[in-house]
Amino acid sequence: MSIDPAAVTTRLFDVRGRRAVVTGAASGLGLAAAEVLAECGARVTLADIDSERLAEQAGRLSAGGCDVRTAVVDVTDDASVRAAFADAAAAYGGLDIVFANAGIAAVPGYANAGGQELHMVAEDAWRKVIGVNLDGVLSTMRAAAGVMKPQGSGRIVVTASTAGLRADPMVCYGYIASKAAVVNVARQAALELAPHGVHVNVIAPGPIKTRIGGGVGAAMGGARAARAYGRGRGAEGPRAAPGIAGRELHDGCRDHDRRRPVARRAGRLVGLLSSRG
Ligand SMILES: NC(=O)c1ccc[n+]([C@@H]2O[C@H](COP(=O)([O-])OP(=O)(O)OC[C@H]3O[C@@H](n4cnc5c(N)ncnc54)[C@H](O)[C@@H]3O)[C@@H](O)[C@H]2O)c1
Repeated sequence: MSIDPAAVTTRLFDVRGRRAVVTGAASGLGLAAAEVLAECGARVTLADIDSERLAEQAGRLSAGGCDVRTAVVDVTDDASVRAAFADAAAAYGGLDIVFANAGIAAVPGYANAGGQELHMVAEDAWRKVIGVNLDGVLSTMRAAAGVMKPQGSGRIVVTASTAGLRADPMVCYGYIASKAAVVNVARQAALELAPHGVHVNVIAPGPIKTRIGGGVGAAMGGARAARAYGRGRGAEGPRAAPGIAGRELHDGCRDHDRRRPVARRAGRLVGLLSSRG
């Protein structure tokens, strides 16, 4: 039997007609993922708390011929997440792809001038970042599973961080705690949902210049980031984001478990998001 590698690749990465929701889609990684999915033919709901940027970016994608809609959502408000998912599922007749990506950095870590040291961890900063990065991801995954599990198919991808796999002096305590937690929440959900045809994966990007933390990534870039992380340097976003996410996931997971690298090349994110992957 002969195999056509191009046809296999096309099939694995084919998202045409797939029904997607991306949170944190008005900026950075979420916008890059929404854009690549929409340009590859998926129908994408861009969900974000920032209604102005959301309208601006969705308008740009629509004008480029993409099939997109928007949902103004605060992922810390479970009712708002449920309503957005109910709307999207009703509009599309189901959901194939959910990218639980919305996240914040709250305050900088101790390696930044004036950054958060352990004795400075304040309840409000801790709650704020846990609220978006952990509670918000849980709400998003729960809403996604509510549609996908009965449907018997779907792909959920969660944005964690290399800061969820090891310590990271550039980010605050709430951030490392939330990112480590979502990795394990996703593992548990992956076990539960796989028998129902729903696959759950996590990406763990390294530093990328986006708008997070008011552009902390941009400010810290270059030599300082390389020193803090002990390797590499901040990547330029947001267009670089999906590819870098794949590579950093590979790096992070290789550090974490040398025997089983998870993603081997840039673009893997689309494979994870594809319902045919
Ligand atoms: N940029 C990096 O260096 C980096 C590295 C690792 C992981 N990440 C993760 O990637 C994800 C995306 O971050 P980014 O770098 O693209 O940042 P970004 O700030 O450019 O984009 C994040 C988006 O999430 C939205 N958002 C924030 N709070 C929200 C809420 N409560 N409800 C709905 N939307 C909300 C923002 O409005 C924004 O559009 C985050 O989970 C972040 O932790 C980023």
